[in-house]
Amino acid sequence: MLKKLPVLRNPQLMRLFGYLPPYKHYIFGAVLAMAAGGGASSLIALILGKLTDMGFYDKDPIVVYLAPLALIGVSILNGGAQYLSSFLLVRVSQGVLLEIRTQLFDRVLHWSDELIMKYRCAEIQAKFINEASVALGKAASVLTTIVRDAIQIVCLISVLVYHNWKLTLITFVVAPALAIVLRWVNKRIKKITHQTQQIFGRMIGAIQESYQGERVVKIYDGYEYESQRFRKINEKLRMLSLKSQRVSAAATPLTQLVAMTGVSFVVVFALIQAQTGTLTIGEFTTFLSALLLLMPPIRHLSTLNGSTAAMTAAAESLFAVIDQKPEEDPGERELKDFRGAVRFEDVGFHYPNHEKMALQHFSLDVKPGEMIALVGSSGSGKSTLINLIPRFWAATEGEIYFDGVPQSELTLASLRSHIALVSQEVVIFDDTIAANIAYGCSDRVSREEIERAAEAAALTDFIRTLPDGLDTQVGAGGNQLSGGQRQRISIARAFLKNAPILLLDEATSALDTESERHIQRSLDRLQQGRTAFVVAHRLSTIINADRIVVMKEGRIVEVGTHDELLAKKGLYEHLYSIQFRREDEPVPTH
Ligand SMILES: Nc1ncnc2c1ncn2[C@@H]1O[C@H](COP(=O)(O)OP(=O)(O)O)[C@@H](O)[C@H]1O
Ligand SMILES: [Mg+2]
Repeated sequence: MLKKLPVLRNPQLMRLFGYLPPYKHYIFGAVLAMAAGGGASSLIALILGKLTDMGFYDKDPIVVYLAPLALIGVSILNGGAQYLSSFLLVRVSQGVLLEIRTQLFDRVLHWSDELIMKYRCAEIQAKFINEASVALGKAASVLTTIVRDAIQIVCLISVLVYHNWKLTLITFVVAPALAIVLRWVNKRIKKITHQTQQIFGRMIGAIQESYQGERVVKIYDGYEYESQRFRKINEKLRMLSLKSQRVSAAATPLTQLVAMTGVSFVVVFALIQAQTGTLTIGEFTTFLSALLLLMPPIRHLSTLNGSTAAMTAAAESLFAVIDQKPEEDPGERELKDFRGAVRFEDVGFHYPNHEKMALQHFSLDVKPGEMIALVGSSGSGKSTLINLIPRFWAATEGEIYFDGVPQSELTLASLRSHIALVSQEVVIFDDTIAANIAYGCSDRVSREEIERAAEAAALTDFIRTLPDGLDTQVGAGGNQLSGGQRQRISIARAFLKNAPILLLDEATSALDTESERHIQRSLDRLQQGRTAFVVAHRLSTIINADRIVVMKEGRIVEVGTHDELLAKKGLYEHLYSIQFRREDEPVPTH
């Protein structure tokens, strides 16, 4: 009979069950408790029948004492069993929830840039917060229903058949009608749950955007726009919740109605049997109470379908994320004693779903310790090139060699361990300054090394003004720091990593001229002795580069030193003169 339940063919539920083996003792205990509870409730029907016959027919005085004792005893057994099984199941589902969330986090952590671009952050957050707990909560209730209620139903039906199989047969006439109602509920709820989850993701997105962009909201008076947007999403969420509640609310009375119709048929037949003398009052009482006791588990079966549908929708979207492949890491070689030579051979790249090449026929032989500046107008492919070096994206054409070893043959870990990156968007974690500088290596570096890195990044004076020095907490996103201070922390991070390759992508462009000038000195020091690829928005900072690569529409158009390129009077000279002129302009006075 259990095999017939469609829920046991549900692949999502089966997959969730796959997390259960470590908890088999708990599950075993819970199932035992449920069986005891299920059995106890069918005892009630038997006891009632026996008591009726003894009390009303035989008028046995002992029944007066026995009746309450028996009923209270059974209730205690039933209640205790229920408490135990619920408690054990919650332990299991919380354990699995933790496991799934951890797994989800670890998966997303290893995603490629391509996948990260595909999913919105809010969508992923919704999966952690909402969908994981919906899936688990519903799975637990599904498990309870299919075990406890199934056992109860089996016990009660046995009582029915044992007592009067003819009457029992009639009961099953209503079964197909019940199935139809349940299927309808199932379909509706699954659809609604799916929509709810999407809207939920959008709601988190709207909150996030208006929160992070609060200054834009304030200065451009975006209050009304944000409010409206949020209200619309919220309204949709409300409509969906109402719809889903309406369906679930209708499900219970509908199933009850169908079931009660069955009961009335039975009562009619039972009365006929009673009048012909084949049924005692006690038997009738047992039969009727067993039938009525069957109602709650059957009602649970109707919510089982709703729960299964909600669980399936949540688990499907959860597992879709878990099943995404991690970043490809096919290489097996390690870089040993890397000197810092990088050679690009006819490298080309286009972003997925974009026909246009962001980079093409890029060839360059970079010697160890050389400083290469990348220059070109916005969109010319400078960042794309920078991102190919640590293989955030794999080149779609050509190959990059590190000391002659093709990038594709290297493990990502080995490749990236030789590269430090400072970019315009500084990432500061919610931790101390020391932990931020020693990010990813705090267990391997000494306090002195962190202090030296801070010193090299000219952070010491600032740190001295802080109450806890290096151990000062910087707050979420480092929002207690100025742009320059944040950038210095990321420079200190790069100093500490001491990698042979350094990537600077517009490291100072978020800063004002004054801070930029200060930071430039630290950056110059950071570049010493390393192979550096520098994208600078201010050309004055790269005049000393060993070679300047001028790019346009993903191609190299000129290569040379500052003086060579100026003499050439090409694109570089043009870009330089524009900037030079702009910087030389006298400040207008009023
Ligand atoms: N994540 C992305 N997806 C699709 N296209 C992108 C992406 N990033 C950049 N591009 C495109 O690639 C080209 C080069 O961009 P980019 O390397 O960022 O230029 P630069 O850093 O020189 O301003 C541009 O045409 C840009 O639109
Ligand atoms: Mg860029």
